[in-house]
Amino acid sequence: MAVILDGKKLRDKIFANLKAKTDSMPVKPTLAVILAGDNPSSIIYVNNKKKCAEKLGINSTVITYSSDVKESELLNKVNELNNNKNVTAILVQLPLPEHINQFNIIDAIAPEKDVDGLTTYNSGKLFSGEKPFVYPCTPKGIMLLLDEYGIEIEGKHAVVIGRSNLVGKPVAQMLLNRNATVTMCHSKTKNLSDITKTADILISAVGKKIIGENMLKNNCVVIDVGIFRDDRGKISGDVDFEAASKIASYITPVPGGVGPMTIASLMLNTVELAANS
Ligand code: GUN
Repeated sequence: MAVILDGKKLRDKIFANLKAKTDSMPVKPTLAVILAGDNPSSIIYVNNKKKCAEKLGINSTVITYSSDVKESELLNKVNELNNNKNVTAILVQLPLPEHINQFNIIDAIAPEKDVDGLTTYNSGKLFSGEKPFVYPCTPKGIMLLLDEYGIEIEGKHAVVIGRSNLVGKPVAQMLLNRNATVTMCHSKTKNLSDITKTADILISAVGKKIIGENMLKNNCVVIDVGIFRDDRGKISGDVDFEAASKIASYITPVPGGVGPMTIASLMLNTVELAANS
């Protein structure tokens, strides 16, 4: 049976270290979150981020807008936060309402306050193999989890399913920077299972139940980034967990795997940006 990659346990360890760090900081970090629209998942995520920040002695402020907010209003707010010396980290919750060009908004964030590492500056640094101010939260959380369990990355075949800017692309690049051989798959990939069966490390970030036991290589490492409610309303991931646990050597549960590591990374990034400011 596969070893469970316990994201909650590692998150708690990271939080304990972070609390000790913020306790010793004369000026506490301040995270500003922009939330536009009424996406129910986004509201839950943002509340959770705020609660975690408070627990760790990080100041946080959430600025909300209705779904018909103008792009210029968001740009003005980002500029104001960039110029506010008390604000050390800025997060624009995604997705933004459809009429807003999210790249314009993200790229308005000062790179040294870009806590998601999503600006062109920070992603450019990541993709050229240089150090960005911080790494995107979910990919960083995945790498921390792999490292915590001593999982070797160099020379391994990592297969990433999903090509989003938040997860798929940056995690593929981070694995490549650690000398994995990386294959990217996506919705138009043909013969997906032929590829996944060759994965030493499989990272699925799709949001649909797509990975069954006949798609896995013996003793592979399975990282399930998907989280959604199934037909019966139960929280589920991309991977058939029961079946995959019998084949994989390590696997993340959903919930309790990647999710807690995303928030742990956000808090780490927030403290890092403040420490370097
Ligand atoms: N929406 C879902 N995940 C994320 C994330 O990590 N950062 C931001 N900004 N929005 C998200």
